[in-house]
Amino acid sequence: MPRDDGSIHLSDYRAPAWRIVHADLEFDLDAGATEVTAHLRLQPDPEQPDAPLRLDGEDLQLLDLRIDGAPLPSDAYRVDAAGLHIEGLDGACTLTSRVRIRPIANMRLEGLYASRGALFTQCEAEGFRRITWFVDRPDVMPTWRITLRAERAQYPVLLANGNPVEAGDLGDGRHFATWHNPHPTPAYLFAVVAGDFGCVESRLARADGREVALAVWAAHEDVPRCRYALGAVERALRWDEERFGRVYDLDVFNVVAAQDFTMGAMENKGLNIFNARYVLADEDTATDADYMGIESVVGHEYFHNWSGNRVTLRDWFQLSLKEGLTVFRDQEFTSDLHSRAVKRIEDVRLLRARQFAEDAGSLAHPVRPPSYREINNFYTLTIYEKGAEIVRMLHTLLGEARFRVGMDLYFARNDGRAATVEDFLAAHAEASGRDLSQFARWYAQAGTPHVEVKDDFDADGGTYTLEIAQRTPPTPGQPDKAPLHLPLRFALYDAEGRRLKVDPRADDGSGDRIELTAARHRLRFHGLPSRPLPAFNQGFCAPVKLAYDYTPSQLGLLARCERDPFNRWDALQRLATGVLLEHFTDAAAAGAALLAALGDLIDDEGQDPAFAAECLLLPDFDTLAEAVPSIDVDALIGARNDLLDRIALEHVERLDRRYHALAAAAAGGLEPAAMSARRLRNVCLDLLTRLDPGAALAQAQFDAARSMTDRLGALRCLVHHDAPGRQAALDAFAGRYATDPLVTDKWIALVASRPHPDALLDVRDLFATQLWTPTNPNRVRAVLGSLSRMNPLAFHAPGGEGYALLAESLPELDGINPQVAARLLAGFESWRRLAGARRNRVEAVLQGLEGRLSSPDSLEMLARLRA
Ligand code: ARG
Ligand code: ZN
Repeated sequence: MPRDDGSIHLSDYRAPAWRIVHADLEFDLDAGATEVTAHLRLQPDPEQPDAPLRLDGEDLQLLDLRIDGAPLPSDAYRVDAAGLHIEGLDGACTLTSRVRIRPIANMRLEGLYASRGALFTQCEAEGFRRITWFVDRPDVMPTWRITLRAERAQYPVLLANGNPVEAGDLGDGRHFATWHNPHPTPAYLFAVVAGDFGCVESRLARADGREVALAVWAAHEDVPRCRYALGAVERALRWDEERFGRVYDLDVFNVVAAQDFTMGAMENKGLNIFNARYVLADEDTATDADYMGIESVVGHEYFHNWSGNRVTLRDWFQLSLKEGLTVFRDQEFTSDLHSRAVKRIEDVRLLRARQFAEDAGSLAHPVRPPSYREINNFYTLTIYEKGAEIVRMLHTLLGEARFRVGMDLYFARNDGRAATVEDFLAAHAEASGRDLSQFARWYAQAGTPHVEVKDDFDADGGTYTLEIAQRTPPTPGQPDKAPLHLPLRFALYDAEGRRLKVDPRADDGSGDRIELTAARHRLRFHGLPSRPLPAFNQGFCAPVKLAYDYTPSQLGLLARCERDPFNRWDALQRLATGVLLEHFTDAAAAGAALLAALGDLIDDEGQDPAFAAECLLLPDFDTLAEAVPSIDVDALIGARNDLLDRIALEHVERLDRRYHALAAAAAGGLEPAAMSARRLRNVCLDLLTRLDPGAALAQAQFDAARSMTDRLGALRCLVHHDAPGRQAALDAFAGRYATDPLVTDKWIALVASRPHPDALLDVRDLFATQLWTPTNPNRVRAVLGSLSRMNPLAFHAPGGEGYALLAESLPELDGINPQVAARLLAGFESWRRLAGARRNRVEAVLQGLEGRLSSPDSLEMLARLRA
């Protein structure tokens, strides 16, 4: 229950006074007015006798209410804005309610809503209460029977959770379908879909010998673009059987694509509903990155069937228990199927650019927050990505075999239960015999830990000493931090880059990994011939900011000799960061070392081209902003541009040669080698276009492109480097894909992220066209998300025009879809560290929003930003 100020606290948790053991629902579906009849089998908690029955409900029009079939007199219950209260019930009973809801008027896309003539649901986190009266909390887990009735012509396909049991005609142009979900399932996983869809389907034998019918559904014209997603479902199902021993548990698994969808996708039991952008793909409309995104999100939602659905959450504070764990699982899925090194680099890039910023800004919160006002505000990079890093550290601490035993125990013990982070850690502690009590702090403490390493070499005795200190900076509400338990891998190299055998008698470690638990550790190695070169945090096994005073030539050596590919990439990122931020005393030597290393990579045909591409991409604006105490926007953007120009100038011939040499490989299809080639080729093209005002190469690639990856890569170069052919190319692209909202989002995102002050005018122009559809979350993100998150130059325009532009649209968006508005507001999360007048400009803009926003989502965000 909320406290008086509207906040909900983990420490206030109480088991539900009433449980629903079975829910039998009937829907008379219609976009204008849907009637929902719910028969709920209720059971009181014997520990809380006499507790009144409180059911959640919002925007429901009550038509009828009965207990065990008898109408409830109007003085026996009370309805307010949040729910329905009934007192004086004496024990288990069946409550039957009938309500009317209006899907067509539902712009929030929470509960039951209409989109392009079809009906969809989104219930996580608290959307089910907008469908019917219910005890809408994840620890209430009935079994379900769902009957859908609708006009056959408009809604020929009727889908719900679980297995299909019955379907037929109702005679009057209407038909029905009944579904049964035998697994105890909380309301946030409820789903129905009704509409005119087609599908691609296949059958797969499960590991237990039974068969499952898989189907991916979309609007008829989009069905040919569902094949890849279906293949991804098949791969995910197999992978979870093999890697985690998790077998699917229904006869059917359905995925449906929705063009109007607030988030990425949703793991509803047996009926996943997806943002169409994570389903639809073909070579003409999807980039390689889109394909990879689809596979990983399909995997993510599928894996939730065990980590989230079979084992669900006791309360929303445990959100990372399913999300962090499931992100870890989807990361491993991608790593097992594709390049593990490149996947790790991509994930760490995202973590550093976005999660570290969140953890250092006004919105910082622990992976398990102690309180919230609106849970929808906590679907964050911290809950998801940092949560996954915690699971990854556990995996590192325990090793794959013991981690698997711990996972098996966790699933076995908590199957059909609503679990907590403690249950997760207890299973791993028991399976491994390890004490994880200090490790649990990772869930409670916000902020990115700083690990600082200093070293000393005593040439006389050949003794090498590492002094390692950890410290976590203060975050809102948490001024003091305790030391964390974390694994830190390391290796020592000699001056030629040969790996040194670490002295097993090292005082505090064993082999190449130590576990930090205290604020300071000292490690000693004896008998070394000369001062070694240390390398740390291989594979980024701990999500920390690690500082060690490397020289440029040491980083150059590490970029060549480190055995761990992630760390080779990271050495170059460190070198580039040091050059960009002028950290090295010998700036000339640092620049030269970086240029030499990058030159080798461009030429190196033995290296995975995707890896080389990652190395050529400098740390982005957000990552650099995280590396400095105060954010000087112009200096960071300027330094980045200068260095990119320098790299292009120095290596123009190499880049040109490699660009052309990769042409044949890049012409392939979706095989990894072709994708890799296109990735490096498009990075080369971007650098080359910097030097070529005519952008002939980019224009040629655009004109000849056979894949969306190459077409969009070239268009991006033309638009972002202000090539003469920019407008014509944009028009051609826009015309070709005018009827495809997902591809239209792509060109809009390019325009809104163009690093030019005029991008603000372009966005204003967009507002005045039909293309601006504030009810469609993908479009809003393509315009305003791209501007605020992908375009630091325009967003941080010195006069504050970018901030004002974003803020201007928020009141309207907040009235339509509060989750979308609140998320855009988070684009201001780092405002307190902005240097110069920008900080004041954001402050004024935030102040100006006061009183103009109304949703709990946006009000909570605004309050936290301004606190
Ligand atoms: N559980 C979904 C996923 O991670 C996300 C749902 C987000 N819902 C929300 N209201 N924020 O796969
Ligand atoms: Zn998830």
